[in-house]
Amino acid sequence: MVEIVPITSAHIESFHRTLDYVARERRYLSFVQAPPLESTRAFILNNIHEGYPQFVALSAGEVVGWCDVTPKSGPIDARIGVLGMGLLPQFRHQGTGTRLMAAALEAAQLAGFSRVELTVYRGNTNAIRLYQKRGFLLKAVQPREAGNDGFDKTLLVMALTLDGPR
Ligand SMILES: CC(C)(COP(=O)(O)OP(=O)(O)OC[C@H]1O[C@@H](n2cnc3c(N)ncnc32)[C@H](O)[C@@H]1OP(=O)(O)O)[C@@H](O)C(=O)NCCC(=O)NCCS
Repeated sequence: MVEIVPITSAHIESFHRTLDYVARERRYLSFVQAPPLESTRAFILNNIHEGYPQFVALSAGEVVGWCDVTPKSGPIDARIGVLGMGLLPQFRHQGTGTRLMAAALEAAQLAGFSRVELTVYRGNTNAIRLYQKRGFLLKAVQPREAGNDGFDKTLLVMALTLDGPR
């Protein structure tokens, strides 16, 4: 049974291991390893302090996935959130990504974000389907060199407009 909960400081090391694992797959994320633990800790603690949505999926007390929405840099873009997410391979295709995203988007709306953006590689069809189902629309296409493995790393920018808090 996988549980979805807001991240706490107790989850940071486990989150860092999962982030690092998914990054080292070198397929889905734009970085190839997690940032150092201490900068990850600072990032998470700041998200908690600022009330930015950051949810984790827990299995047997360990973080197996995450979904966060953090402000796009710059004051003009303060109400635009950037979404990031991922799951360990053995926890994919079981509806957990859908649940993580629902929790993060609801919290983003309550936190006052008016729009959420994300980038995804065109080869990442599982993620794209999830985003489309949740209403994300394609906003831009940034062509890239194909990877050695033939995985299409054309970068898609997708966005979802949120209603104001009720
Ligand atoms: C992208 C990602 C977060 C999606 O999460 P996920 O948990 O795999 O997604 P879901 O299971 O919610 O949905 C994926 C599919 O599983 C199906 N599914 C949902 N519940 C299911 C269940 N109980 N049993 C079997 N399949 C199920 C969904 O219907 C969906 O299928 P469809 O796309 O054919 O409709 C995850 O695959 C992942 O971590 N990928 C690698 C990292 C990554 O790509 N991060 C995003 C970078 S932009």
